[in-house]
Amino acid sequence: MSDVKKLYIKTYGCQMNVYDSERMAEVLGGSGYVETQTPEDADMILLNTCHIREKAAEKVYSELGRFKPLKAAKPDLKIGVAGCVAQAEGEEIMLRQPMVDLVVGPQSYHRLPAMEAKARAGEKALDTDFPEEDKFEKLKNRPKAQRGPTAFLTVQEGCDKFCAFCVVPYTRGAEVSRPVDRILDEARDLVERGVREITLLGQNVNAYHGAGPDGDWSLAKLIWALDKVDGLERIRFTTSHPNDMGDDLIAAHGECAKLMPYLHLPVQSGSNKILKRMNRSHTAESYLKLIERIRAARPDILMSGDFIVGFPEETEEDFQDTMELIRQVNYGQAFSFKYSTRPGTPAAERPQVDEDEASDRLTRLQALITQQQRAIQDGMVGREVQVLFEKPGRLDGQMVGKSEYLHAVHVADAPVARGDLARVRIVESGPNSLAGVLI
Ligand code: SAH
Ligand code: SF4
Ligand code: F3S
Repeated sequence: MSDVKKLYIKTYGCQMNVYDSERMAEVLGGSGYVETQTPEDADMILLNTCHIREKAAEKVYSELGRFKPLKAAKPDLKIGVAGCVAQAEGEEIMLRQPMVDLVVGPQSYHRLPAMEAKARAGEKALDTDFPEEDKFEKLKNRPKAQRGPTAFLTVQEGCDKFCAFCVVPYTRGAEVSRPVDRILDEARDLVERGVREITLLGQNVNAYHGAGPDGDWSLAKLIWALDKVDGLERIRFTTSHPNDMGDDLIAAHGECAKLMPYLHLPVQSGSNKILKRMNRSHTAESYLKLIERIRAARPDILMSGDFIVGFPEETEEDFQDTMELIRQVNYGQAFSFKYSTRPGTPAAERPQVDEDEASDRLTRLQALITQQQRAIQDGMVGREVQVLFEKPGRLDGQMVGKSEYLHAVHVADAPVARGDLARVRIVESGPNSLAGVLI
């Protein structure tokens, strides 16, 4: 075998997994791996998994099954499972799928090189610890390669909120914020490599409280420091919790020009009874009040949310409260899910809502969201937006990018390059994107 080995990573779940997959590829670069887009070429396959809903975990096992013939044809092929399913199921994965060589939880990725060596030596490698050391520092192994115009940057990990339905506090562990100087270094490095827009990530990103030169910094303070990074044009952050939306962060939405007018602020339900049972520690009213304050700071902000329907003991009346909240907020984007029972979480033990009823609620909720989303999109026609161009479109000469509001915008025959920012007038609204012309 040659010295260069090929690594195929498949990523499921949230943006934090996307970021982690990049870091894993970099750290395994030190063990002689380069990335490939085809599993058939690979010397190592890594699945970076998500455990948030039942189907997410099942997908992993069916995907592993599909790799069986590859392993049979190439006995040297190593197969690893990373991410939240790895954390939750641990050794169980190797028992259920004996061809898995390596299982690594999200807090142990910096140990991958040693684990890979162990797997190469024919042993099983398992690590689902929550180590003390700063994983992100140890993951640094950055080639000075050019990057696309947008990048993720994890600033906070884990969650202490324990919503009654959610596995994240168990799979990612307790809330940890990275120190300010490391984040700023990483941001400057990304900008040097061509990045123009950074999305700050965390399971509870607005609870960020990393060590700064003068005590702990809030997310708003971090955003203001990033605002001063030359060459960085846009800042976003996700995912936020309504209870951690500090005054300084709300104010930044009105005052920081680089902070984009888009906010993903999951509420889950509009029924106070259900919110209480979810252990969300906010009410429908406090959420609506909060949005009022955010809109006072930045009137054109596009709101995004997450919803769960069919949470244990949710009645039609509770569901109608959610529909009413949606009508009041008017969302430009939203993600909605049927409640999925997660073993080990408090809600798993409670009386479940009928499956068909939950499906019906989801259909009705999504119809309302789609209507709002389309109306907001259609309302963009005639308006001027700023687009960060990311890639060529499907048609010849076409370029595609994102507006401030995260709408996909395509422009025909555009004399712009990847990474350019330009003023665009929106001329048409389609189902998934807007069409515009350069101004
Ligand atoms: N940290 C974020 C969200 C993390 S998970 C927050 O607090 O908002 C992303 C979304 O998945 C959640 O907002 C929720 O809507 C959904 N989700 C989480 N657990 C779920 C479950 N057991 N069933 C259905 N949806 C779930
Ligand atoms: Fe899960 Fe709630 Fe934490 Fe979000 S805040 S990650 S939904 S426990
Ligand atoms: Fe999924 Fe883990 Fe993210 S459960 S949503 S990959 S934090």
